[in-house]
Amino acid sequence: RYRDGSAGDKMNPFAEQEAWEDHQIQKATLKYGSKNKKQISDDYQFVFEDQIEFIKATVEEGDKFDDELATESLEESNAKSALEKLQEDRKTLPIYPYRDELLKAINDHQVIIIVGETGSGKTTQIPQYLHEAGYTKHGKVGCTQPRRVAAMSVAARVSQEMGVKLGHEVCGICYYSQNSGSVAFPANVPCPKGLGVGGVITLKEPCTAIFQLHLETSEVEKFQPLVGYSIRFEDCTSNKTVLKYMTDGMLLREFLGEPDLAGYSVVMVDEAHERTLSTDILFGLVKASRFFQLYSYNSFNIFMDDIARFRPDLKLLISSATLDAEKFSDYFDSAPIFKIPGRRFPVEIHYTKAPEADYLDAAVVTVLQIHVTQPPGDILIFLTGQEEIETAEEIMRQRTRGLGTKIAELIICPIYANLPTELQAKIFEPTPEGARKVVLATNIAETSLTIDGIKYVIDPGFCKMNSYNPRTGMESLLVTPISKASAMQRAGRSGRTGPGKCFRLYTAYNYLHDLEDNTIPEIQRTNLANVVLTLKSLGIHDLINFDFMDPPPSEALLKALELLFALSALNKLGELTKVGRRMAEFPLDPMLSKMIVASDKYKCSDEIISIAAMLSVGNSIFYRPKDKQVHADNARMNFHTGNVGDHIALLKVYNSWKETNYSTQWCYENYIQVRSMKRARDVRDQLEGLLERVEIELSSSPNDLDAIKKSITSGFFPHSARLQKNGSYKTVKHSQTVHIHPSSGLSQVTELKPDWLVEIAPHYYQMKDVEDRMLSFSLSLCVYLRACVRVLLKGLNIIAVQACNE
Ligand code: CDP
Ligand code: MG
Repeated sequence: RYRDGSAGDKMNPFAEQEAWEDHQIQKATLKYGSKNKKQISDDYQFVFEDQIEFIKATVEEGDKFDDELATESLEESNAKSALEKLQEDRKTLPIYPYRDELLKAINDHQVIIIVGETGSGKTTQIPQYLHEAGYTKHGKVGCTQPRRVAAMSVAARVSQEMGVKLGHEVCGICYYSQNSGSVAFPANVPCPKGLGVGGVITLKEPCTAIFQLHLETSEVEKFQPLVGYSIRFEDCTSNKTVLKYMTDGMLLREFLGEPDLAGYSVVMVDEAHERTLSTDILFGLVKASRFFQLYSYNSFNIFMDDIARFRPDLKLLISSATLDAEKFSDYFDSAPIFKIPGRRFPVEIHYTKAPEADYLDAAVVTVLQIHVTQPPGDILIFLTGQEEIETAEEIMRQRTRGLGTKIAELIICPIYANLPTELQAKIFEPTPEGARKVVLATNIAETSLTIDGIKYVIDPGFCKMNSYNPRTGMESLLVTPISKASAMQRAGRSGRTGPGKCFRLYTAYNYLHDLEDNTIPEIQRTNLANVVLTLKSLGIHDLINFDFMDPPPSEALLKALELLFALSALNKLGELTKVGRRMAEFPLDPMLSKMIVASDKYKCSDEIISIAAMLSVGNSIFYRPKDKQVHADNARMNFHTGNVGDHIALLKVYNSWKETNYSTQWCYENYIQVRSMKRARDVRDQLEGLLERVEIELSSSPNDLDAIKKSITSGFFPHSARLQKNGSYKTVKHSQTVHIHPSSGLSQVTELKPDWLVEIAPHYYQMKDVEDRMLSFSLSLCVYLRACVRVLLKGLNIIAVQACNE
């Protein structure tokens, strides 16, 4: 890294690199005179080329594109109202010419497989076509997405498009603030009479809904979106909603409550190629149900034939950009395949000459290389997760900082699930002239999101993937090489609006020999405890003969049954117990659900749902700004006084916030993210509602820490580990070495008394498991799978990252 062999500036590992780059630019400036930017950038290019060399391997010819899009002049488009423009844009989408044909096919068949290039309009248009064709008169149109961000952003887009048609109904959307208990009006929304711009109305009772303002009457009313979305713990729909975008997990949960999907006229399972766990289970359920004449008899005996109503009127659409359409068609009894011809420009693929040791660094260097050497066009980089995106963003900012006006503006736009919605919208904003946008995205940009204007794609070749070891029951999110299918899809993102270039940060040899053809379906590499619990609660007992598209490994099924038995959710015959039935009501991992159900016994359900809510918002509670790390750490340690363990610390955070009446100021003072806390409060409210549903009383024992810890242990005893002298942990049951994830702000470990394990789970632990070292080592309980395992994958040393939700 450091050319003079020194260790460099420890505080800022990039300082030296920056200084060196600055120096190069200065040199170039001296050589060519200060104004000759072109030459400077050429020299600058040399600087980067010095580091990464790409070789152009193949040029993939896309379909020939007939340019129907008349390029409108700026004045023309300004003159038109935005609403009209949106409507016209809809007509330019590749799917538009097939509208009627598609509607006819849907009319004629119950199940249809739809394949069409990303960006052709499947997700945003098909539900609208169905609405226009009258399908929503007798039920909702549901459209599932594998990711929360996609569900939200697509719903926003569609409501924008529909808002045009229904413009008089929606005058403005105002947002309710939980802190002040009031509705605030954004500057672009006219406020009710007398309030002025940015006015505020205080509401009688708190509520998280979006409000709608009627201009004529100045009345504020709960917004009843026609287009809504539903993701875990966030339901933005109402009984007026006709187009509902949702995560596939949410539809699966709805299935639990309404096995005939009575509220729907059409269900569209989108991005089906992703083969997420929920998508696969939905397929199995839909197929096994009696919805379809085709299957009603052969699956008769394995499904809850007494619950599901025969639904010949329900339409099922399965859509995707890259789909092994025949496989899906075969599974659904030769369902017809509808292909939407795409438009694609040729994409030039470049590979690195040699493997890159640090793909993150290579990605940043490649961005700068493109920025100074390539013609205008935005850049899309595929990274594996939030942490990586944030790191890349920071490196990029640092490296471009000193350059000032020497290079054109680089607009850096990250996108990941936890990013606030208003920032997510930024990636869709058109890039100002002279500037270049760099979108740092996770896999979400592979097929679910279309960002216009992308001309360059940087593909490091990795994604974060769930992996599960049935032997140890250990689940981890691993950074894993992508499949060839993914790589092709990523490359294609650059050729949507013109010829593109894709820079693969791996060699052509790697591509050909190391990447799998297709991604392994999630069902074959995940912990199935949740699925088994769901299926059991639907009355499906014979899991071995359940018609999965690709069956899960029987070892994993067995392990799931074992775990559910250990958690007392199933009895010895494999039947759902009362505990299991209660657990199935919670949209949480079975261990978390068990912790909540068990809190009834220890009289601390109040505290436990706060902890569960805090755990479910993930790792984003504490805020640690670079320049105030010491203060932030001190603030955080305050919650840990008495060495109470991470769970109790989370509880203390929540309760302290509550005591200040949910104050935002308090969050700032304590380096806590307000947004995460609000979400936790939201989740907590919903968990409280679910407690009522399973008839568990809200009980509180704030000072009985042992009771709280015992409830936690009741759910997480399979994840107990013993602290080793070297600071690592060994699981009690399997003696597997695990580490607390070093970068994880919260390690989420709580110490427990060894004999609790025997007291709480006598069927799982015997005295001998815990007693031998009881005195010399404290026993710690690792919760929520935040373990770190080193795995060797295809010769690459890959470090597992901790599991996180969604
Ligand atoms: O689902 P598919 O990939 O076939 O396309 P889509 O998501 O329906 O996108 C169709 C068009 O809508 C894209 O070309 C985008 O320009 C636009 N779109 C958008 O502007 N903002 C969104 N959040 C989603 C789509
Ligand atoms: Mg789509």
